[in-house]
Amino acid sequence: MKVSMAAPKTQTSRLGDLLDILEEHQQIDEALLRHQETLLGLEFTHALGALEELERRLSRHIRREEESLFGVYAGLGGFPQGAHPDVFREEHRRIERSLKDLLAGARGLTLGAGVRRAVILLLERETRFKTLLSGHAQREEQHLYARLKELWSAEKRP
Ligand SMILES: [Fe+2]
Ligand SMILES: [Fe+2]
Repeated sequence: MKVSMAAPKTQTSRLGDLLDILEEHQQIDEALLRHQETLLGLEFTHALGALEELERRLSRHIRREEESLFGVYAGLGGFPQGAHPDVFREEHRRIERSLKDLLAGARGLTLGAGVRRAVILLLERETRFKTLLSGHAQREEQHLYARLKELWSAEKRP
């Protein structure tokens, strides 16, 4: 069992956490691809399981960003277009809603007439979800992650 300590985090562990949270962007992309592979094979139980796994990963990632990163980032100020913490937060809500819709779509898939078209339609919706997700992650990496990395690397140096 993990014992949580009240001691404040050192800059080194904050930087380590930042890189760890950043790494989740690739894990989320990979989880979506695993879901799509099973979807293409008409393996609907696995496809739904993989999408639920994606939801767990994504909600943990969003929670970690909002709880550990957004507060410090918001204090830095000087945000370019599309990189304000409120914009990122609003996009998180859109991503969550969009994923809920995809899950509902995946739960409605059953083998039978017209199933291949239903899969194509779901894949098209997932392409729009990917665009939303990757645009969000790219701006986070360019601004939020880059600035916090710079901040916490600089503070670590004597
Ligand atoms: Fe995010
Ligand atoms: Fe992110």
